[in-house]
Amino acid sequence: MNNKLTIIKIGGSVITDKHTPFSVDLNAIKSIIGEMKPVKEEKTIIVHGGGSFGHPVAIKYMLSNGLKNREQVKGVVETSQAMLSLNKIIVDMFIQEDFPVISCSPHNIFITRNGRICKSFLYPLNYFLEMGLIPVLFGDVVYDTERGVSILSGDQIVSYLSIKLKANRVILGTDVDGIYSSDPKINPEAQLIRELNPENYQDILKILKSTTKNRIDVTGGMYGKVRELVRVAKHGIDIYIVNARTPGNISKILNSSDINCTRFKNWCKR
Ligand code: ADP
Ligand code: IPE
Repeated sequence: MNNKLTIIKIGGSVITDKHTPFSVDLNAIKSIIGEMKPVKEEKTIIVHGGGSFGHPVAIKYMLSNGLKNREQVKGVVETSQAMLSLNKIIVDMFIQEDFPVISCSPHNIFITRNGRICKSFLYPLNYFLEMGLIPVLFGDVVYDTERGVSILSGDQIVSYLSIKLKANRVILGTDVDGIYSSDPKINPEAQLIRELNPENYQDILKILKSTTKNRIDVTGGMYGKVRELVRVAKHGIDIYIVNARTPGNISKILNSSDINCTRFKNWCKR
Protein backbone atom coordinates (compact mmCIF):
# COMPACT_ATOMS: atom_id res chain seq x y z
CA MET A 1 0.00 0.00 0.00
CA ASN A 2 1.16 3.51 -0.94
CA ASN A 3 1.90 5.35 2.33
CA LYS A 4 0.68 8.73 1.06
CA LEU A 5 -2.54 9.87 2.71
CA THR A 6 -5.45 11.23 0.67
CA ILE A 7 -8.31 12.99 2.45
CA ILE A 8 -11.53 13.40 0.51
CA LYS A 9 -14.51 15.45 1.68
CA ILE A 10 -17.84 14.95 -0.01
CA GLY A 11 -19.90 18.05 0.63
CA GLY A 12 -23.49 17.97 1.81
CA SER A 13 -24.39 19.80 -1.41
CA VAL A 14 -23.38 16.69 -3.36
CA ILE A 15 -24.92 13.88 -1.34
CA THR A 16 -28.18 15.64 -0.39
CA ASP A 17 -30.49 18.32 -1.72
CA LYS A 18 -29.71 21.11 0.75
CA HIS A 19 -33.11 22.73 0.15
CA THR A 20 -35.20 19.64 1.05
CA PRO A 21 -34.73 18.34 4.61
CA PHE A 22 -33.57 14.71 4.85
CA SER A 23 -33.25 14.20 1.09
CA VAL A 24 -30.38 11.96 0.11
CA ASP A 25 -29.06 11.72 -3.48
CA LEU A 26 -28.34 7.99 -3.76
CA ASN A 27 -27.33 8.24 -7.43
CA ALA A 28 -24.73 10.90 -6.69
CA ILE A 29 -23.30 8.85 -3.83
CA LYS A 30 -23.22 5.68 -5.94
CA SER A 31 -21.41 7.35 -8.80
CA ILE A 32 -18.82 8.99 -6.52
CA ILE A 33 -18.13 5.65 -4.83
CA GLY A 34 -17.62 4.13 -8.29
CA GLU A 35 -15.09 6.85 -9.09
CA MET A 36 -13.19 6.33 -5.85
CA LYS A 37 -11.94 2.86 -6.84
CA PRO A 38 -8.36 4.19 -7.32
CA VAL A 39 -8.11 4.73 -3.54
CA LYS A 40 -9.86 1.54 -2.41
CA GLU A 41 -6.56 0.04 -1.32
CA GLU A 42 -4.76 3.29 -0.56
CA LYS A 43 -4.34 5.19 2.70
CA THR A 44 -7.51 7.29 2.61
CA ILE A 45 -9.87 9.15 4.94
CA ILE A 46 -13.35 10.12 3.80
CA VAL A 47 -15.31 12.93 5.44
CA HIS A 48 -18.85 13.87 4.46
CA GLY A 49 -20.95 16.92 5.16
CA GLY A 50 -24.30 17.33 6.84
CA GLY A 51 -26.31 18.76 3.96
CA SER A 52 -30.05 18.56 4.46
CA PHE A 53 -29.61 16.14 7.42
CA GLY A 54 -27.43 18.07 9.89
CA HIS A 55 -27.97 21.72 8.99
CA PRO A 56 -31.79 22.05 9.30
CA VAL A 57 -31.80 20.36 12.72
CA ALA A 58 -28.87 22.44 13.99
CA ILE A 59 -30.70 25.58 12.81
CA LYS A 60 -34.02 24.50 14.34
CA TYR A 61 -32.40 24.20 17.78
CA MET A 62 -29.99 27.12 17.28
CA LEU A 63 -27.02 24.95 18.17
CA SER A 64 -24.32 26.95 16.40
CA ASN A 65 -23.96 29.32 19.36
CA GLY A 66 -23.90 26.48 21.87
CA LEU A 67 -26.18 25.11 24.54
CA LYS A 68 -28.25 27.77 26.28
CA ASN A 69 -31.38 25.91 27.40
CA ARG A 70 -32.71 22.46 28.21
CA GLU A 71 -34.77 22.22 25.01
CA GLN A 72 -31.56 22.30 22.99
CA VAL A 73 -30.45 18.97 24.49
CA LYS A 74 -33.13 17.42 22.30
CA GLY A 75 -31.49 19.23 19.39
CA VAL A 76 -28.14 17.61 20.19
CA VAL A 77 -29.82 14.19 20.15
CA GLU A 78 -31.61 14.89 16.87
CA THR A 79 -28.59 16.44 15.10
CA SER A 80 -26.35 13.58 16.13
CA GLN A 81 -28.96 11.05 15.04
CA ALA A 82 -29.53 12.80 11.71
CA MET A 83 -25.82 12.66 10.96
CA LEU A 84 -25.51 9.03 12.05
CA SER A 85 -28.38 8.04 9.76
CA LEU A 86 -26.80 9.84 6.77
CA ASN A 87 -23.44 8.26 7.63
CA LYS A 88 -24.99 4.79 7.76
CA ILE A 89 -26.48 5.19 4.30
CA ILE A 90 -23.10 6.24 2.91
CA VAL A 91 -21.01 3.64 4.75
CA ASP A 92 -23.42 0.85 3.70
CA MET A 93 -23.09 1.92 0.07
CA PHE A 94 -19.28 1.86 0.28
CA ILE A 95 -19.42 -1.64 1.82
CA GLN A 96 -21.66 -2.84 -1.04
CA GLU A 97 -18.78 -1.90 -3.36
CA ASP A 98 -16.24 -3.76 -1.16
CA PHE A 99 -14.52 -0.70 0.27
CA PRO A 100 -12.93 -1.50 3.69
CA VAL A 101 -14.65 1.46 5.36
CA ILE A 102 -15.23 2.05 9.05
CA SER A 103 -17.53 4.70 10.46
CA CYS A 104 -15.84 7.00 13.01
CA SER A 105 -18.09 9.41 14.91
CA PRO A 106 -16.44 12.83 15.37
CA HIS A 107 -18.28 13.43 18.68
CA ASN A 108 -16.17 10.60 20.12
CA ILE A 109 -12.92 11.91 18.63
CA PHE A 110 -12.92 15.70 18.91
CA ILE A 111 -13.52 18.35 21.58
CA THR A 112 -13.79 21.98 20.55
CA ARG A 113 -13.16 25.24 22.39
CA ASN A 114 -15.35 28.04 21.03
CA GLY A 115 -15.92 26.02 17.89
CA ARG A 116 -12.29 25.14 17.16
CA ILE A 117 -10.89 21.64 17.72
CA CYS A 118 -8.73 21.77 20.85
CA LYS A 119 -8.37 18.04 21.65
CA SER A 120 -8.61 14.83 19.68
CA PHE A 121 -8.30 11.12 20.28
CA LEU A 122 -6.72 9.82 17.10
CA TYR A 123 -5.23 6.46 18.19
CA PRO A 124 -8.03 4.30 16.78
CA LEU A 125 -8.10 6.28 13.54
CA ASN A 126 -4.34 5.88 13.09
CA TYR A 127 -4.49 2.15 13.75
CA PHE A 128 -7.44 1.75 11.40
CA LEU A 129 -5.39 3.45 8.66
CA GLU A 130 -2.44 1.15 9.36
CA MET A 131 -4.74 -1.87 9.02
CA GLY A 132 -5.83 -0.69 5.59
CA LEU A 133 -9.24 0.50 6.73
CA ILE A 134 -10.77 3.70 5.34
CA PRO A 135 -12.26 5.80 8.17
CA VAL A 136 -15.45 7.67 7.27
CA LEU A 137 -16.11 10.77 9.39
CA PHE A 138 -18.69 13.54 9.06
CA GLY A 139 -19.63 17.03 10.20
CA ASP A 140 -21.12 16.56 13.67
CA VAL A 141 -22.36 18.05 16.92
CA VAL A 142 -19.51 17.78 19.46
CA TYR A 143 -18.72 18.72 23.05
CA ASP A 144 -17.37 22.27 23.37
CA THR A 145 -15.54 23.32 26.54
CA GLU A 146 -17.00 26.87 26.49
CA ARG A 147 -20.35 26.53 24.72
CA GLY A 148 -21.50 23.08 25.80
CA VAL A 149 -21.70 21.92 22.19
CA SER A 150 -20.65 23.18 18.78
CA ILE A 151 -21.29 22.22 15.20
CA LEU A 152 -18.01 20.92 13.87
CA SER A 153 -17.87 21.11 10.08
CA GLY A 154 -16.45 18.36 7.92
CA ASP A 155 -14.20 21.07 6.47
CA GLN A 156 -12.61 21.75 9.87
CA ILE A 157 -12.15 18.01 10.42
CA VAL A 158 -10.43 17.74 7.03
CA SER A 159 -8.19 20.70 7.82
CA TYR A 160 -7.25 19.36 11.27
CA LEU A 161 -6.59 15.78 10.13
CA SER A 162 -4.63 16.81 7.03
CA ILE A 163 -2.19 18.79 9.13
CA LYS A 164 -2.00 16.33 12.06
CA LEU A 165 -1.62 13.24 9.87
CA LYS A 166 0.48 14.99 7.19
CA ALA A 167 -1.82 14.27 4.28
CA ASN A 168 -0.36 14.25 0.83
CA ARG A 169 -3.43 15.70 -0.91
CA VAL A 170 -6.87 16.95 0.00
CA ILE A 171 -9.87 16.85 -2.32
CA LEU A 172 -13.02 18.80 -1.53
CA GLY A 173 -15.97 17.64 -3.59
CA THR A 174 -18.79 20.16 -3.85
CA ASP A 175 -21.57 21.02 -6.35
CA VAL A 176 -19.76 23.77 -8.29
CA ASP A 177 -16.45 23.65 -10.19
CA GLY A 178 -14.51 25.54 -7.51
CA ILE A 179 -14.24 29.12 -6.29
CA TYR A 180 -15.84 31.70 -8.58
CA SER A 181 -15.74 35.48 -8.86
CA SER A 182 -19.34 35.37 -7.57
CA ASP A 183 -21.84 32.62 -6.68
CA PRO A 184 -22.17 30.68 -9.98
CA LYS A 185 -25.66 29.53 -9.02
CA ILE A 186 -26.83 33.14 -8.92
CA ASN A 187 -24.60 34.79 -11.53
CA PRO A 188 -24.14 32.86 -14.82
CA GLU A 189 -21.28 35.26 -15.73
CA ALA A 190 -19.25 34.17 -12.69
CA GLN A 191 -15.66 33.22 -13.59
CA LEU A 192 -13.94 30.14 -12.20
CA ILE A 193 -10.80 30.99 -10.25
CA ARG A 194 -8.48 28.12 -11.10
CA GLU A 195 -5.75 29.00 -8.65
CA LEU A 196 -5.89 30.31 -5.11
CA ASN A 197 -2.51 31.67 -4.02
CA PRO A 198 -1.20 34.08 -1.37
CA GLU A 199 -1.42 36.94 -3.91
CA ASN A 200 -5.14 36.64 -4.72
CA TYR A 201 -6.29 35.17 -1.37
CA GLN A 202 -7.41 38.38 0.38
CA ASP A 203 -9.43 39.56 -2.64
CA ILE A 204 -11.06 36.16 -3.02
CA LEU A 205 -11.91 36.00 0.67
CA LYS A 206 -13.71 39.35 0.32
CA ILE A 207 -15.68 37.97 -2.63
CA LEU A 208 -16.60 34.82 -0.72
CA LYS A 209 -17.65 36.77 2.34
CA SER A 210 -20.12 38.71 0.24
CA THR A 211 -21.40 35.76 -1.84
CA THR A 212 -21.77 33.13 0.88
CA LYS A 213 -25.23 32.98 2.40
CA ASN A 214 -25.59 31.18 5.70
CA ARG A 215 -29.33 30.64 5.85
CA ILE A 216 -29.21 26.89 5.28
CA ASP A 217 -25.59 26.27 6.22
CA VAL A 218 -24.48 26.77 9.81
CA THR A 219 -20.81 26.16 9.10
CA GLY A 220 -19.86 29.03 6.77
CA GLY A 221 -20.42 27.65 3.25
CA MET A 222 -17.71 28.26 0.65
CA TYR A 223 -16.22 31.08 2.76
CA GLY A 224 -15.77 28.75 5.74
CA LYS A 225 -14.35 26.05 3.48
CA VAL A 226 -11.66 28.29 2.02
CA ARG A 227 -10.66 29.71 5.40
CA GLU A 228 -10.22 26.16 6.74
CA LEU A 229 -8.26 25.00 3.74
CA VAL A 230 -5.78 27.82 3.62
CA ARG A 231 -4.42 26.54 6.93
CA VAL A 232 -3.71 23.24 5.17
CA ALA A 233 -2.19 24.89 2.10
CA LYS A 234 0.32 26.66 4.33
CA HIS A 235 1.70 23.21 5.21
CA GLY A 236 2.48 22.57 1.56
CA ILE A 237 -0.37 20.07 1.10
CA ASP A 238 -2.02 19.90 -2.35
CA ILE A 239 -5.67 20.98 -2.23
CA TYR A 240 -8.35 20.81 -4.90
CA ILE A 241 -11.95 22.05 -4.74
CA VAL A 242 -13.78 20.08 -7.43
CA ASN A 243 -17.30 19.54 -8.70
CA ALA A 244 -18.13 16.04 -7.44
CA ARG A 245 -21.43 16.13 -9.33
CA THR A 246 -19.64 16.17 -12.69
CA PRO A 247 -19.16 12.54 -13.79
CA GLY A 248 -15.49 11.61 -14.10
CA ASN A 249 -14.13 14.49 -12.01
CA ILE A 250 -13.33 12.51 -8.85
CA SER A 251 -11.63 9.67 -10.71
CA LYS A 252 -9.66 12.12 -12.87
CA ILE A 253 -8.42 14.13 -9.92
CA LEU A 254 -7.49 10.90 -8.08
CA ASN A 255 -5.49 9.90 -11.15
CA SER A 256 -3.82 13.35 -11.16
CA SER A 257 -5.47 14.39 -14.44
CA ASP A 258 -6.26 18.02 -15.11
CA ILE A 259 -9.89 19.13 -14.64
CA ASN A 260 -11.76 22.41 -14.29
CA CYS A 261 -11.38 23.13 -10.59
CA THR A 262 -9.70 25.42 -8.05
CA ARG A 263 -6.27 24.40 -6.91
CA PHE A 264 -4.46 26.00 -3.96
CA LYS A 265 -1.02 26.80 -5.30
CA ASN A 266 2.32 28.27 -4.20
CA TRP A 267 1.57 28.51 -0.48
CA CYS A 268 4.87 26.89 0.45
CA LYS A 269 7.10 24.04 -0.55
CA ARG A 270 7.30 20.91 1.59
P1 ADP B 1 -20.64 21.72 0.52
O1 ADP B 1 -22.03 21.42 1.03
O2 ADP B 1 -20.35 20.97 -0.75
O3 ADP B 1 -19.59 21.56 1.57
P2 ADP B 1 -21.29 24.53 0.53
O4 ADP B 1 -22.77 24.45 0.28
O5 ADP B 1 -20.87 24.82 1.90
O6 ADP B 1 -20.59 23.20 0.02
O7 ADP B 1 -20.62 25.56 -0.46
C1 ADP B 1 -20.80 25.39 -1.87
C2 ADP B 1 -21.76 26.43 -2.38
O8 ADP B 1 -21.18 27.71 -2.22
C3 ADP B 1 -22.07 26.31 -3.85
O9 ADP B 1 -23.22 25.53 -4.04
C4 ADP B 1 -22.24 27.75 -4.31
O10 ADP B 1 -23.57 28.03 -4.71
C5 ADP B 1 -21.90 28.58 -3.06
N1 ADP B 1 -21.07 29.75 -3.35
C6 ADP B 1 -21.30 31.01 -2.86
N2 ADP B 1 -20.39 31.87 -3.31
C7 ADP B 1 -19.54 31.15 -4.10
C8 ADP B 1 -18.37 31.50 -4.86
N3 ADP B 1 -17.90 32.76 -4.89
N4 ADP B 1 -17.74 30.52 -5.55
C9 ADP B 1 -18.19 29.24 -5.51
N5 ADP B 1 -19.29 28.86 -4.82
C10 ADP B 1 -19.97 29.80 -4.12
C1 IPE C 1 -22.25 20.09 9.03
O1 IPE C 1 -21.13 19.61 8.38
C2 IPE C 1 -22.65 19.14 10.13
C3 IPE C 1 -23.89 19.50 10.85
C4 IPE C 1 -24.69 20.48 10.52
C5 IPE C 1 -24.23 18.68 12.01
P1 IPE C 1 -20.55 20.36 7.11
O2 IPE C 1 -20.49 21.83 7.38
O3 IPE C 1 -19.28 19.70 6.75
O4 IPE C 1 -21.66 20.06 6.01
P2 IPE C 1 -21.85 20.56 4.52
O5 IPE C 1 -20.84 19.92 3.67
O6 IPE C 1 -21.72 22.07 4.53
O7 IPE C 1 -23.24 20.12 4.19
